[in-house]
Amino acid sequence: MQDEIPWRKSLLARIRRERPVLLAAILSALAALAAGMNKWIVLVLLLVMIFTALFNEAPVLTAEPLEPVEAEPEAPASRLPDVSATLAGLDIPVMVLSDDASVLFQNRAAEKAFGEVALGAHISARLRSPGVLDMVRETIATNAPNQIEHAERLPSERVYIVRSAPVEFRDDGQRERFFILSFRDISEVRRIDRMRSDFVANASHELRTPLASLRGFIETIQGPAKNDQKAQAQFLNIMLDQTTRMSRLVDDLLSLSRLELKSHLAPDEKVDLVPLLGHVRDSLVPLARDVGVDINLHLPDGKVEVLGDRDELVQVFENLMENACKYGQEGKVVDVRLKNGSGEPVEVSIIDKGPGIPAEHVPRLTERFYRVSIEDSRSKKGTGLGLAIVKHILTRHRARLIVKSEVGKGTDFTVRF
Ligand SMILES: Nc1ncnc2c1ncn2[C@@H]1O[C@H](COP(=O)(O)OP(=O)(O)OP(=O)(O)O)[C@@H](O)[C@H]1O
Ligand SMILES: [Mg+2]
Repeated sequence: MQDEIPWRKSLLARIRRERPVLLAAILSALAALAAGMNKWIVLVLLLVMIFTALFNEAPVLTAEPLEPVEAEPEAPASRLPDVSATLAGLDIPVMVLSDDASVLFQNRAAEKAFGEVALGAHISARLRSPGVLDMVRETIATNAPNQIEHAERLPSERVYIVRSAPVEFRDDGQRERFFILSFRDISEVRRIDRMRSDFVANASHELRTPLASLRGFIETIQGPAKNDQKAQAQFLNIMLDQTTRMSRLVDDLLSLSRLELKSHLAPDEKVDLVPLLGHVRDSLVPLARDVGVDINLHLPDGKVEVLGDRDELVQVFENLMENACKYGQEGKVVDVRLKNGSGEPVEVSIIDKGPGIPAEHVPRLTERFYRVSIEDSRSKKGTGLGLAIVKHILTRHRARLIVKSEVGKGTDFTVRF
C-alpha cells in the first residue's frame, strides 16, 4: 500500500513537518558563509543536513487511509469464559461427572431441582433412578451420548429428558474426559398434551351422547312409534332439548377458541358494573324462580367502572349467577355484592348458601368439562365449559377469580379486577 502513495505528496508532507529543522540548517549555513567558511564545504554540509532531516527516519503518515492491518486472530478458546461459569449460567439443570460417575460440578438449576450434593460424591447419592444410573454407566463405557425419560415425584411431579454425553478437553496436550448430564423439563409439554387429548375426548363424548339419543328417537319414531302421535310429541320434545344442548356446547367451544385467540389483548372500554349486574340479574329471574331462589343485589350508589368488554363481562356474571342458582338452590338465596374499590380493587362476589364444593375440586373448576358431579351438571343442562370461559375472559381483563367454599355452608365466587 505504501508504494501506492504518490512520492511527491509524501515529500511535501515531510518538508512541512521538518520545516523548523530545515530553517535552522539554512540559517546555520548562512552564518557559516558569513564567517568566511568555504562555500563548497558549507553546501555539502547543508545538503547532508537536509537529507538527514527528510529521509533518515520512518515514513510520515499521510491523510491517505492505509489498509487496516489484520490482527493476528486470538485463539477462540481463550475468549470463552470458564466452562463451569458457562454451565452455571444455564437455567436447565446440568451436572458434570468424572470417569467414575462422581459429581464434579452441578449448576444452580440442578441444586434447585435435585437438592445439593457434596462434590465428589457418586451420582447415585443424588439420583437413585436405575434408568438414569444405567444410562450414565453405558455412556462412560461406550463414550457415546444417550438419553432417557425420567420422572421425579417429589417435591412435585416433573418429567425430564435426561441426556448424558461425553466431552473431551485438551489441556497442555493432555486429554481429559468428562460427562455432561443435562435435564430438559418436559412436564409442561406433557400437561398440555394430556389436556389436549382430554379435551378432544371430552368434546366428542359430550356430542356423542345427545347424538346417540337423537338417533334412538328417530329410529323409534320411524319404527315402533310410527303411528303413536302422543309418543312422537314427547320424543320430539326430548330431541329438541338434545339439539339445544348440542348447539350450546358448540357455541361454548367456539366462544372459548375466540377468547383464546385474543387472550393477549386487554379490553379498553369503560364498563359500569352497577347497571350491568342489574341487567344480568333480571335476565336470570325466570331461571331463579324455577329453582326457587332469590337473587339479592347489594350495589353501592353511583358508578363503579372497570376497563372491560361489556358482552364478555355479562357472560362472566351470567355464568356465576346461574351456577349459584343451579348448584346452590338448596340455600334459596344468592347474594351479589359489588365492592366499590375506593383505593382497593373492585370486587364482585356471588355468594350462595348451597351444598358447597369439596376442597379437592376447587383448583380444577376452571378446567374445560370439569364438573364436580357429572350427573348433577348434566341434569341441569351444564356443559362444564362455563367456568373455563369465565377464566379466559377474566385473564383477558387482567382480573382474578377467587373461590371460597365450605361444604354444607355455601360458596363464594369473587371476581377481583
Ligand atoms: N356455586 C356452586 N356451587 C356448587 N358447585 C358449583 C358452583 N358453581 C360451579 N359448581 C361446580 O362447578 C362445575 C363447573 O361449573 P361450570 O359453570 O364450568 O359448568 P356447568 O355449569 O356445569 O356448565 P355450563 O356453565 O357450561 O352450563 C359445575 O358442574 C358444578 O359441579
Ligand atoms: Mg355454569
